[in-house]
Amino acid sequence: MKVLVIGSGGREHALCWAIAKSPKCDELFCAPGNAGIDQVAITVPIAIDDLDGILDFVAANAIDFVVVGPEGPLVAGLVDRLDEVGIKAFGPTAAAAQLEGSKAFTKDLCAKYGIPTAEYARFDEPDAAKEYIRIQGAPIVVKADGLAAGKGVILCRNENEAYAAIDHIMTEQAFGEAGAEAVIEKMLVGEEASFFALVDGKTALPLVAAQDHKAVFDGDEGPNTGGMGAYSPAPIVTDALTKRVMDEIINPTIRAMAAEGMPYKGVLYAGLMITEKGPELIEYNARFGDPECQPMMMRLKSDALDMLLACAEGRLDKFKLEWRKDAALCVVMAAEGYPGAYKKGSEIKGLDKAEDLADVVVFHAGTLEEDGRIVANGGRVLNVTALGETVKEAQKRAYQAVAVLDWPGGFCRSDIGWRAI
Ligand code: AMP
Ligand code: GLY
Repeated sequence: MKVLVIGSGGREHALCWAIAKSPKCDELFCAPGNAGIDQVAITVPIAIDDLDGILDFVAANAIDFVVVGPEGPLVAGLVDRLDEVGIKAFGPTAAAAQLEGSKAFTKDLCAKYGIPTAEYARFDEPDAAKEYIRIQGAPIVVKADGLAAGKGVILCRNENEAYAAIDHIMTEQAFGEAGAEAVIEKMLVGEEASFFALVDGKTALPLVAAQDHKAVFDGDEGPNTGGMGAYSPAPIVTDALTKRVMDEIINPTIRAMAAEGMPYKGVLYAGLMITEKGPELIEYNARFGDPECQPMMMRLKSDALDMLLACAEGRLDKFKLEWRKDAALCVVMAAEGYPGAYKKGSEIKGLDKAEDLADVVVFHAGTLEEDGRIVANGGRVLNVTALGETVKEAQKRAYQAVAVLDWPGGFCRSDIGWRAI
């Protein structure tokens, strides 16, 4: 079958790497891809937000199945457009992707169906929002309703910070239309955990646990990023917690979405707070985590294409997911300066040597091939991922591979996985 993957990050490289191993995959394309994806798929220069361009490519190349990596095209309705022309796709429709695209939508759904989450209120007018903050007091959390590239959540220690957050989101419109509405909610206290399930509209299958590190510096210090590394399994997600999350959060959400006439299909990625009362939902994402997907794909023993197709075709009730026993760990190498301003164009050497190490895959994120050289072309650039008998062993292998790479323009954290070790 002919498969098209949408996206250009490490997540999409990991998905392409896993799909390419399937005997059912005859031809694999990726739009727009990167220099690493180019080694396992045919990359085509179509932007992820060019839905017309994607639809034209699918028709012209008789693509059978489209796997959508990032949230942007999901929220924009790519899966709906593909449905209309009878092309199978992995990922939710625009209506179902509201679980990520609108925090207000998700909070209202949780309230209506009794799904545990922080107490909240939603506002489309700054004065009313500030009045609510005055009554509630701090600490409190202020969020832009829509997609804000992971920057739309402001944790406020006092009321003045919360008023400033309202000004930033609603009055200054720092996130544009995404901040036309704000959600204000109680600060939850506990340990955070990520939870992933595959959902086919009716059935949800939990995936192995994976956890990222958001802060840019060692010890989880410094500003937040898209993720500086990830590991799987994550000890916080025990079997008992998995059962509770499935029973109290994931399955009720799946039933709620079906009841609302917008059945959810794709990966459902829940950000959770494990409070003293139990797991509570912080937020949903409608896609795999990046970089969490990279260690997950290295641990996947089942055929990845089969898995994604079973999800798209509503056959998860009969699908048996299999995983390797090994742990996996991914170290993100970023361009000096990230998550602030960074330079593009520095050359990366030693990729072959790193890949020669046993059980190591260097997934590419922001890379470009220029006259036979691989150069940095983004903030997060490489995702050095390794398997090992334990998270500690996987960590050792991943950092051995990092040491072999020769990229003076890059940096990484030196402690990925510390919570699990
Ligand atoms: P996001 O950028 O949407 O992934 O969320 C940012 C982070 O804000 C989460 O990972 C949590 O650490 C934190 N957060 C969001 N909402 C709450 C809340 N109600 N209570 C405590 N922390 C929160
Ligand atoms: N690593 C966090 C995310 O994918 O949202």
